[in-house]
Amino acid sequence: MNVLQNVGIGSAINRVDGLQKVTGRARYAAEHPVPGLLHGVIVSGAIPKGRIVTLEDSEARAVPGVVEVLSHKNRPHVAWFDRSHKDMVAPPGSPFKALYDDKILFSGQPIALVIAESFEVARYAASLVRASYEVEPHNTDFHKAQAERFMPSKKRDTYHPPKNRGDADAAFAAAPVKVSAEYHLATEHHNPMEMHASTVVWEGDGSLTVFDKTQGPQNVRDYLAGVFGMSASTIRVMNPFVGGAFGSGLRPQYQVYLAVMAARMLQRSVRVVMTRQQMFTHGHRPEALQSVQLGAERDGTMTAIRNSATTSTSRYENNMEDVVIWGMMNYACENAAGEYAIAPVDTATSTDMRAPGAATGMTFFEMAVDELAYAAGIDPLEFRLKNYSETDQMNGTPFTSKALREAYAEGAEAFGWSRRSQAPRSMKEGRELVGWGVATGMWDAMFSKTSASARLSANGHLEVASAASDIGTGTYTVMTQAAADTLGLPVEQIAVRLGDSSLPKAPVEGGSWMAASVGAAVQLACRSVAEKLLSAAAKMQNSPLAGASMEAVRFSGGRIALRDDPARGVAITEVMRASGTDVIAVEETASAGISGMISQMRKSRNTHSAIFVEVRVDEELGVVRVTRVVNAAAAGRIINPKTARSQILGGVVMGISMALHEESMTDHRYGRFMNHNYAEYHVPVNADIHDIQVIFVDEPDPEVTPLGVKGLGEIGIVGTAAAVANAIFHATGKRVRALPITIDKLV
Ligand code: MOS
Repeated sequence: MNVLQNVGIGSAINRVDGLQKVTGRARYAAEHPVPGLLHGVIVSGAIPKGRIVTLEDSEARAVPGVVEVLSHKNRPHVAWFDRSHKDMVAPPGSPFKALYDDKILFSGQPIALVIAESFEVARYAASLVRASYEVEPHNTDFHKAQAERFMPSKKRDTYHPPKNRGDADAAFAAAPVKVSAEYHLATEHHNPMEMHASTVVWEGDGSLTVFDKTQGPQNVRDYLAGVFGMSASTIRVMNPFVGGAFGSGLRPQYQVYLAVMAARMLQRSVRVVMTRQQMFTHGHRPEALQSVQLGAERDGTMTAIRNSATTSTSRYENNMEDVVIWGMMNYACENAAGEYAIAPVDTATSTDMRAPGAATGMTFFEMAVDELAYAAGIDPLEFRLKNYSETDQMNGTPFTSKALREAYAEGAEAFGWSRRSQAPRSMKEGRELVGWGVATGMWDAMFSKTSASARLSANGHLEVASAASDIGTGTYTVMTQAAADTLGLPVEQIAVRLGDSSLPKAPVEGGSWMAASVGAAVQLACRSVAEKLLSAAAKMQNSPLAGASMEAVRFSGGRIALRDDPARGVAITEVMRASGTDVIAVEETASAGISGMISQMRKSRNTHSAIFVEVRVDEELGVVRVTRVVNAAAAGRIINPKTARSQILGGVVMGISMALHEESMTDHRYGRFMNHNYAEYHVPVNADIHDIQVIFVDEPDPEVTPLGVKGLGEIGIVGTAAAVANAIFHATGKRVRALPITIDKLV
């Protein structure tokens, strides 16, 4: 019996690459086998700032099996230094150039690459490279860096400052109820399981195949072409599987640059993998200071918002985030002023990390809103509903959709919020203080121009392809479902190709735009195949579909049939046979189009969420357990409830991590992140994670993107840390305004 299972958009199928992943058949950047491979090991510098005086590599070179030691002394010429680089994700400034000269810009900077016939030999020889330095004064203390705080330039840095309204200063001064608080977020480092790695295959004719850990293979290809003065057509970058990234793989990292440099110089295939420790020597979520001042009437009506923030960047690039806009957009309040600046420290440039800007800014704003609700003596959920806005308050535009009210309601119901008592420390159970907190999350619902191809074979097998990436988010599955939805084919007959720069053009996977964008591109390509099939079917002898329009037919179970009379139809394979077609191949591009661009100017596009958290705090020991989380997301149409839920779960875990665990600690004497390993840089383990319930509220939105999809990769983290912090206040009566909330801050 042929059971037809719905696998299209909206169905909770298992991720199609799941079996490959759990059986080890999915290969990551450092796992692709290449004959005659050389191994490069990076030598990291010891000082935070200054210059290399001597670099002694003769001992390393003397080790049998060592092929070359690359450093600023002998590096080959690269084109980068002649013209601008092409990394589309780079912030304004002058990007770090590994092995360029003797200058040291940050601790752990790569100073040499030892290349050998085996990894073990390279690693041993790397330990023999000696450098001496001239040390210059440095500063890695972000609090001290406030003295060098500056406003990014609107023109040069393409910075979009917040739009102020009303008179926030006067309103704040006059407010009968007010809070004023300073918040701090520690530096956090991305710690995906897969470390940055590149396997560069020297193809003999000078062209390269590069297996790279990246969120955008075409961006890496264009970057490498620019840096090494190569034609983009001679470089193919592959990232069929990515072991997590969270933003760390948006920019090409220095190991790909070093591996390609070595491969070209030696005309051999080369692999370079960063160590876990070296993962702490590139981008990180910027350290942040944020000051929030809020005013309200005695009845809880918000009257004033003043929101100011500083985030860290390096001395050589101006990395910026949208930190202060979120609360200004979200709440009905007539007077609001925001201000944002950056301050340089002597580290590598900070970079995007899951929901950059919002994860920091909305979290602190939502912690301040909780403080204001308490100052006004109002339940924090009721307070948010009282100041609810249907429109984007900062830009004065309507949203394409905003089902945040429903998220609050469904989340509160599932959590049991009505059973909460308002007073801090009022819900003690045994030796545990119980606290319940709520917060709001907000992120952009973006769409990015994307192309996809579709290729239908005579046997009914379909291949869809795009240079998109799947960083664990489910892109393979999204593309499969968009295709299945349009052409009515079973999953087994659909193959997806992605993670290859030679495929149709796609953006980097970031900003939560990939599902909406590549989903639309695949749908367009498959619709174009469907049209060709229908026109061939209509021409068949005695065709039941003669004269039928696309609207009158349905593609389902491998057949094309009349919607009104499903018995009248033909199998797709029959159409292919009758028309003598071996293959139907198309490529289509999904873009916002004119109407989309007009809509983008006139309407705001955002995802929203309501997060409810229960914590239990051991009063004597200060140990916090997050025992329950309900995250209710309003994110438009859900392509796959199962993979979508996984995205929110991951975001919530990362939010709990931000609230309680993650902190890159610097020894300012050496300007170095000290806890650069999984033992000392804390991320949650299974024992830290308890019950998490994910709710998707109904939010039909045909306008936001072609499929009505808003994206889910980032919204799960936004506001979660605030809900945890607010719950900790409710449990303990202590306001901790510096994240992470470690035990020492509670006892
Ligand atoms: Mo995400 S920080 O856009 O990879």
